[in-house]
Amino acid sequence: MTTETKPSTARFNLPARLLHWSMAVMVIAQFFIGVTMIAALSYYPLLLAIHRPLGIAILLFAIVRLVNRLTHRLPPFLATMGPVERRVASYSEYLLYALLLVQPLIGWAMLSAAQSPVVMVGAVDLPAIAPHNITLYATLRTAHTVAAYLLFATFTAHICAVLFHTVGLRDGILHRMSLWPSRNNRG
Ligand code: HEM
Repeated sequence: MTTETKPSTARFNLPARLLHWSMAVMVIAQFFIGVTMIAALSYYPLLLAIHRPLGIAILLFAIVRLVNRLTHRLPPFLATMGPVERRVASYSEYLLYALLLVQPLIGWAMLSAAQSPVVMVGAVDLPAIAPHNITLYATLRTAHTVAAYLLFATFTAHICAVLFHTVGLRDGILHRMSLWPSRNNRG
């Protein structure tokens, strides 16, 4: 999908970099809120009131990000990445995109199946996207947990790979996604 170069100043475009870091913050917050709200029931209503609109915001950001990704060329892979790693990186990127789109839709459909309003900020409710059906709710509830684990595992693997390149190989991979130019960049 992309060609090889030596370490360079090539970076993702500005919208991609802004979306990357804002979504990283949103998704980490969403994990904490999701896990905490089912563990600490006294905070459940408050945390769910944040979890719903934050999840829908993640969905909207993921759509914008996908459009940006499909309409812009990527910077070339670093020369430090072999063919197998490039393939793994590409597939894990597709998996991340898929999960960032599917997980909020599962959450939205799950509440629709429970006939529970998907309240956004203020009095705005989203329409139901699934029929009222308690068996469907139970299936989607399990799917929401499984997708959360899968997203967490993919996200963790992504961070480990970036750490390996940054600390082990010192190939300046972070520069590609940084919001500002780094002093040590090799460009
Ligand atoms: C990327 C987006 C999202 C992530 C990462 C996420 C993550 C999570 C996590 C980790 C849990 C706890 C699950 C468990 O341990 O079993 C959870 C629960 C829940 N999520 Fe999400 N979620 C997202 C989007 C949404 C959306 C968009 C909605 C609804 C509009 C939603 C509704 C819920 C509800 C209602 C629960 C609690 C269900 C219960 O009380 O049993 N989520 N979520």
